[in-house]
Amino acid sequence: MTDSPIPLFKVFMSDKASGSVSKVLSSGYITQGPEVEKFEEVLKNYFSNDKVVTTNSATSGLHLIFHMLKEYGLGEDKVKIDTALDHVLTTPLTCTATNWPIILNDINLRWVDVNPENCNMDLDDLESKVNKNTKAVLVVHWGGYPVDLDRLREIQNNFYQKYGFKFVIIEDSAHAFGTKTDKEMIGNTGNISSFSFQAIKHLTSVDGGCINFNYKEDVDRAKLLRWYGIDREENRKDFRCESDILNVGFKFHMNDVNAYIGRMNFEPVTKDLLKKHENNGIYYNDKLKNIKNVELMDYSNDYSVPFWIYTIKVKNRDRFMEHMKNKNIIVSRVHERNDKHTATKSYQEDLPLLESFIDEMVCIPVGWWVGEAEREYIVESIKEGW
Ligand SMILES: Cc1ncc(COP(=O)(O)O)c(C=O)c1O
Repeated sequence: MTDSPIPLFKVFMSDKASGSVSKVLSSGYITQGPEVEKFEEVLKNYFSNDKVVTTNSATSGLHLIFHMLKEYGLGEDKVKIDTALDHVLTTPLTCTATNWPIILNDINLRWVDVNPENCNMDLDDLESKVNKNTKAVLVVHWGGYPVDLDRLREIQNNFYQKYGFKFVIIEDSAHAFGTKTDKEMIGNTGNISSFSFQAIKHLTSVDGGCINFNYKEDVDRAKLLRWYGIDREENRKDFRCESDILNVGFKFHMNDVNAYIGRMNFEPVTKDLLKKHENNGIYYNDKLKNIKNVELMDYSNDYSVPFWIYTIKVKNRDRFMEHMKNKNIIVSRVHERNDKHTATKSYQEDLPLLESFIDEMVCIPVGWWVGEAEREYIVESIKEGW
């Protein structure tokens, strides 16, 4: 169909961003300044959540969240890692960026199995694994498809009845910018949510991320900790010298150049591109049904999902990948499971559900660059067989 391959990911950079970023570059203010504030305002509006804190990446954001869980506690109840036995329950099917911050904060983790019907955390397995040492549950909305948050809250409430506190729910929403369930928007669910604005995400600021909190004290603390522990808003005698620092912090803040690019990309992404991702997903849900050697995920029609990746299960995956390569269509598993690395050997446990489909799953192009002709070609190429 085309001479050049249909990519699995593509960087979206608006003309507005690339055409006018030099204004910021030559403004004399290129690190954190007014542009960061403006981008945060745009994000707060979008999520209808006034507790948004930007960072220089989602990885930094997650590192900050787990640092806060370890050192200070999160939420109104200040749920905190108190003993070496305390742990975070998490999914292994994700980017290393999800789980490495837990390990680097020296917090115990336990893997939860993965639901073969949507690649999200298996909530039955979660329910069987929570215990008094569970301080947080970290979920990923794989490909943008939301975890069943009602069920997750039910597990959290039952947990509360039993143990007298609620584990913190942290959503790694790096794939889920713009996702809405029938009731709520990811980023405003009452949980802590982490987004990525890295190059190939729906909305890019080149690199960047944000954390959406739901508790004001966490916002204030995160703002201090993202910049050395220094209060940027304090009145100072000498403008260069901070006053007393209570707690040491990181250098995780977003800068004005990234914030400006993010803000300039925001409108075309939210007004146009997300819908293209969503429509391509809806198209595949229909057109890839009943094809030999292909099994689809069990996606609900009640949700609005601008799929970041579209995952299917195929027999003879290596042959499928070779076939798609010959058709000039880029496909990939995208993320290696985190639990099989040498670095995570000590956490290993049996995950039979993940085992049952890991050799079959693969992701096909679904983003804004996949037009009607491209998606038809992708479906026809799959129908041809391999
Ligand atoms: C699920 C998930 N979490 C976190 C990240 C990290 O994002 P960032 O590159 O902004 O640190 C990624 C990046 O791809 C991701 O896919």
